[in-house]
Amino acid sequence: MAEAAILGFLQNNESIPDSGKFAAELNLDHEEVKNVIKSLQGFRYIEAKELKRETLVLTDEGKKYAAEGSPEFHFFSAVPEEGSISKDDLEKKMDASVFKIGSTQAAKKKWVAMGKQVSRKVQHVEDKVKESLLQIQQGLELDQESLNSLKARKLIASQGWTGYSDVKKGPSYAPKRKIFATDLTRENLQNWKEMEFKEYNFNAKGQPLDAGHLHPLLKVRKQFKDIFCQMGFEEMPTNNFVESSFWNFDALFQPQQHPARDSHDTFFLKAPSTTRELPEDYVERVKQVHESGGYGSRGYNYDWKREEANKNLLRTHTTAVSSRMLYALAKGPFTPKKYFSIDRVFRNEAVDRTHLAEFHQIEGLICDRGLTLGDLIGVLQAFFSRLGMPKLRFKPAYNPYTEPSMEIFSYHEGLGKWVEIGNSGMFRPEMLQPMGLPDDVRVIAWGLSLER
Ligand code: PHE
Repeated sequence: MAEAAILGFLQNNESIPDSGKFAAELNLDHEEVKNVIKSLQGFRYIEAKELKRETLVLTDEGKKYAAEGSPEFHFFSAVPEEGSISKDDLEKKMDASVFKIGSTQAAKKKWVAMGKQVSRKVQHVEDKVKESLLQIQQGLELDQESLNSLKARKLIASQGWTGYSDVKKGPSYAPKRKIFATDLTRENLQNWKEMEFKEYNFNAKGQPLDAGHLHPLLKVRKQFKDIFCQMGFEEMPTNNFVESSFWNFDALFQPQQHPARDSHDTFFLKAPSTTRELPEDYVERVKQVHESGGYGSRGYNYDWKREEANKNLLRTHTTAVSSRMLYALAKGPFTPKKYFSIDRVFRNEAVDRTHLAEFHQIEGLICDRGLTLGDLIGVLQAFFSRLGMPKLRFKPAYNPYTEPSMEIFSYHEGLGKWVEIGNSGMFRPEMLQPMGLPDDVRVIAWGLSLER
């Protein structure tokens, strides 16, 4: 309707100066006229300028009076032409609000004489209020005095108004809108000679592609990462799959004859087969603690070999990174730390349904003065509760680098049994002291697998 009206009008006329007046004259909804102008403008059928102004609108009360007449008019009409009527009788004839407002206004306008009895002062009145309101409703001008009195009575209010001015033919003007094909369908292509295709809009953003999702494993990885971050842990840099035996084993007080160091369990590198540098004074302290102990330990009593420590391997656990981090931390003035890592590790194991030669390890550690096994249990409870595993049990275990050590079990509601979910412990003094950490500093740590 509005579209045909606008395009038709412009066929014989230069312009539409005011969309509001245009809509009022043709009895069209101005909102619809505006939408059509916007759309036709987009397709360059027409050109238009935006128009903003303040307009007057009727309030609900104003609308009521415009439709039914003002209260003073009703009040006046209820007073007999000759003689008088008692106030009480008048009151019964109309709504309380009409009576109240009507009597005041009619008296003010000197239409009636008010006393116990009410009588007319004039024979005939005009309902100016209703007329003025109707004029405003039609968008017509009104004198300032009438406007002021309507505003004072809250029958009208001003409102921001937007429309269009100067609506003219555009470069693609046509009296009727052409329907363009927008899709390259089989049918459209077959009938391409009869069709008109919409031009490409190279500025359009296009549909967002439903692509690029996280792999389920990486999704779980993100959930773990979020939990660690919420608990105030910092992520450790784990971007080195190749590690020396020193950081992977020796620094962790894992003896050189330990079965895990066997090539059956560890992938050793052929090239480069050995590491180029290690921190020499620290290596010396590690050698000492392996061979003869110290810090209250007897050590392992064997000949520690540098060549064994130099051997490169694919890291078998992310605890190798933790040892590097703790060594770096020991170099500065001591500050408590909470670290985590989630990354790949490699083990030369028989591959089966649940075991590949590589998997992701999740590791958390807290380093502070005077930590206890109670702290470890508390942190594990908090951590696994966030994962939806609040029921935990612990079993004594063995790791070369922790004492005490605990395997972590969680009750699996679905399976109806306890399942092992991780390994944990307090790093041994034989590991922490050679690094140079103060002797009251304790490190509680735990590890689990992302996929196993
Ligand atoms: N590194 C251990 C593993 O590979 C996990 C662990 C981390 C255990 C930290 C204790 C402390 O299973």
